[in-house]
Amino acid sequence: MAQVVISQHPLVRHKLTLLRRATTEPKKFRELVRELSQFLLYEATLDLPLQERIVDTPLAPYHGHRIAERVGLVPILRAGLGMVDPILDLIPTAHVWHLGLYRDHATLKPVTYYNKLPPEVDVDLCLVLDPMLATGGSAVAAVTVLKEWGASRIKFLGLIAAPEGVQALHQAHPDVPIHLAALDDCLNDHGYIVPGLGDAGDRLFGTG
Ligand code: PRP
Ligand code: URA
Repeated sequence: MAQVVISQHPLVRHKLTLLRRATTEPKKFRELVRELSQFLLYEATLDLPLQERIVDTPLAPYHGHRIAERVGLVPILRAGLGMVDPILDLIPTAHVWHLGLYRDHATLKPVTYYNKLPPEVDVDLCLVLDPMLATGGSAVAAVTVLKEWGASRIKFLGLIAAPEGVQALHQAHPDVPIHLAALDDCLNDHGYIVPGLGDAGDRLFGTG
């Protein structure tokens, strides 16, 4: 059974509170998503395997390390885009494969509109990026696409989840660890996370 890891870091709690605030404008919202994404990445990559790498310091050879896995970032459009650049800042060699999914407003079911995964799997670890895990429909669909593609090691990174979303993702894909900044109370009748932060895509991009 994969883990559900909810960050307990004081800075994550502080920044997530600012992110939720209705008066936080898009510029500040994007900045907070950047910062929170890097904290989540730190926690989600604690188990990355290493291989030996020897470098010369000005004084002597040093037996050090390099990351042994090829990492792929899979942002779910639109809101997952806000998590890509801060992660690329830390793993600049990561490949980025975009998946376009939106929730149908009436059914809350995910609709796929963009998928440009290459024919062959070219990464060892896929990090699915989406700030919101609400019903879980989008995350379940994204992970299913990645498994059908052939990805074997997948992790989900999100900022806020509802219990329903965690349950759905865990039930459909029990091997996929879920890394979160917070687990909220519930979904409302429109499928929004409560207390949540509203529509993450709209708040990132100033729409809606
Ligand atoms: C939001 C969010 C997730 C999805 C979560 O995207 O970014 O992708 O909803 O909901 P779920 O867990 O119930 O599937 P949305 O569909 O609003 O699309 P957008 O990012 O393009 O606005
Ligand atoms: N998508 C969002 O952006 N926010 C929610 O609360 C639920 C789904």
